[in-house]
Amino acid sequence: MRPTPIDKEIKLDPTKVIMSKTDPKGIIEYANEYFMEISGYEEFELMGQPHNIIRHPDMPKVVFKVMWDRLHRGENIHALVKNLAKDGRYYWVLTNFETKYDDDNNIIAHYARRKAAPGNAVYQIEKLYNTLLSIEKNQNEEVAEKYFYGMLEEKRKSYDEFILSVLDISSQDLKLYFLDDDELQKKTTNIKNKKGGFFKKLFS
Ligand SMILES: Cc1cc2nc3c(=O)[nH]c(=O)nc-3n(C[C@H](O)[C@H](O)[C@H](O)COP(=O)(O)O)c2cc1C
Repeated sequence: MRPTPIDKEIKLDPTKVIMSKTDPKGIIEYANEYFMEISGYEEFELMGQPHNIIRHPDMPKVVFKVMWDRLHRGENIHALVKNLAKDGRYYWVLTNFETKYDDDNNIIAHYARRKAAPGNAVYQIEKLYNTLLSIEKNQNEEVAEKYFYGMLEEKRKSYDEFILSVLDISSQDLKLYFLDDDELQKKTTNIKNKKGGFFKKLFS
């Protein structure tokens, strides 16, 4: 049975990564400890399950369509995702989806690394997702997809440029964002101490 969503947010530790690995179809094969802690599931409940086990009903279908289209083309993608925990609470994450290939260029796995989504980005994306969701409910997914690409055309931005503009960071800083605390400390002691650096921007 699906959990019933409740309007309560789970606060994430901004330094921690929520990671999972799936087979080519999105069946969960591995999830890290922080994934378990935040989602409220145990390993035996998650492994072998489709990843939509944590899908929140507030997420428009079109976002996952864009994500899967990109993964099938072998392109990585970032997305802002609202997830549903076992107890019905929600948590917003910025997710980096990546695909792994074997030597014959067949997809063997997908990986998702997630970190707490910055509040101002959630504020902006939530408005768009609500619009997409209501189009999907009242029309259909195809119409929502057209609206989504129409919006990007109007802004003269690719999907990736749009996400960067919502996050208000550079693609370079986005790479650093997904390092875990130890990796980050090694690489960014200088950046962290810099007044007005990207960490300040993301979590102000
Ligand atoms: C590596 C990987 C990680 C994923 N992580 C999530 C996630 O955190 N939340 C989510 O709702 N869907 C996630 N998905 C997408 C789901 O597989 C699924 O497409 C989505 O939940 C939409 O569900 P639906 O196809 O039943 O509409 C992930 C997929 C992959 C390949």
